[in-house]
Amino acid sequence: MIYLYLLATLLFVFGIKRLTSVKTCQQGNRISELGMLIAVVTVLLIGSHVNWAVVVAGILVGGGVGLVIAKRTPTTQMPEMVAALNGFGGVASALVAMAELLLAPQLQVADFSLGDLGVVPAVAFPATIIVGMVTLTGSFVAYGKLSGKKLSHPLQGSSRHYLHAALGIAAIGCATWMALTGSHAMTTVAVILLALVAAVLGVFLVMPIGGADMPVVVSLLNSYSGVAAAFAGFVTKEPLLIVVGALVGASGLILTQIMCKAMNRSLANVLLGGMGDDSAVAKDAKDYKSIKQAGPEEVAMLLDGASSCIIVPGYGLAVAQAQHIVKDLADQLQKRGCQVRYAIHPVAGRMPGHMNVLLAESDVPYDQLWEMDRINGDFKNTDVVIIVGANDVVNPAAREPTGPIAGMPILDVDQARTVVVIKRSLSPGYAGIRNPLFDMDNCLMVFMDAKEALEGIVKEVKELK
Ligand code: TAP
Repeated sequence: MIYLYLLATLLFVFGIKRLTSVKTCQQGNRISELGMLIAVVTVLLIGSHVNWAVVVAGILVGGGVGLVIAKRTPTTQMPEMVAALNGFGGVASALVAMAELLLAPQLQVADFSLGDLGVVPAVAFPATIIVGMVTLTGSFVAYGKLSGKKLSHPLQGSSRHYLHAALGIAAIGCATWMALTGSHAMTTVAVILLALVAAVLGVFLVMPIGGADMPVVVSLLNSYSGVAAAFAGFVTKEPLLIVVGALVGASGLILTQIMCKAMNRSLANVLLGGMGDDSAVAKDAKDYKSIKQAGPEEVAMLLDGASSCIIVPGYGLAVAQAQHIVKDLADQLQKRGCQVRYAIHPVAGRMPGHMNVLLAESDVPYDQLWEMDRINGDFKNTDVVIIVGANDVVNPAAREPTGPIAGMPILDVDQARTVVVIKRSLSPGYAGIRNPLFDMDNCLMVFMDAKEALEGIVKEVKELK
């Protein structure tokens, strides 16, 4: 059986490696799924007290609900689904630790405490409950924020940190009590209190984070769900769970670091929950003075004389499902001798790699996708930039010293000769703030759904001589 465990582990590692490139990511998913199947079957085969009725019922109910949710969720709501799944992963680990602890035969004996089982269980049980419950409630706060709910922290500034520290100390107190008490009734009370304190801490840690900083917190919670599973592996003495949990925890942390770099934030700030402002819409968010409007015909005329064009996709491209028509436009322009590239911001859209996945759907060649750092120097030599449903990732307000997106690296689109922004209105982006780009002299606004606007532009470009 140890060889099957090893095989499953290797498949997970190999699968994750394949996920690092758009070309191989589907294969990576399949390989990891096979690893998971082997892992589940192996665990069931070696389990001495498997209650098959419960296992089959769990697979049918959990698998059925998962299938329906996955089928019904549009790609634009994937981040919410990922947040919810992280939360369920965390609470599953916490519940396993609670059940193992409260049903452990040794602990039913008077004067026998969790600490008497050894240092590893004394740390692993409370750690699983704390990380699992923080992940559960933190993930559901993130879910709410991602679906547009305004969830603000009741405290501001340093009093926020004092509250978080007090809850952290209360959790450590409950964990110590849990490890030392020799009474089963007291252990039960300590477990319930620990779970409640950790749940409240999870809510308060995620509440202050908002606006553009959500990508960081979602990948961090993903990492936490893996850490909770790894601790649960120590609780259940299940090496495969430790390995898989550690893989999820470590890869989630690496993704968090990539997101922090993309947003120019420090990981320490994220971990302490003191980052960012909440995502309330700024009062001046629709306050513009010199908006210049254009339609598909004017944009086509502009493109007629262009020798270089950069397309900047954003969340609106996903909402409008305009990935196929944007490629048609690029093909038309290339036929006319115009150089076309796509500028990809690391947090454009609502999930890591969102734009790459969308554009891969319409077979955009990978060599046309340029990452922010590589393309930013080229905007100043570009004739036309077409922004399709992007807002925060091109907002020059990020260059100001204060504000919700201050310091976030952006695509320097304002340096191009002409910028065309396709969006339906003057509504702000995810960070809820005004975008001074829209008021600039070289900016033309096309107030239409992205798909309709692009269809119109393609039609007009085809009619050009
Ligand atoms: P946003 O700043 O959210 O702006 C998207 C724009 O698309 C909106 O201003 C909206 O304006 C427009 N839009 C929506 N539907 C449209 C449609 N059908 N046709 C045309 N336009 C449409 O998007 P972004 O620039 O991609 O930035 C992403 C933001 O999300 C960042 O703040 C990022 O931090 C945050 N975020 C990212 C992630 C990840 S991991 N990528 C996760 C969570 C949060 P109208 O309503 O006026 O059309």
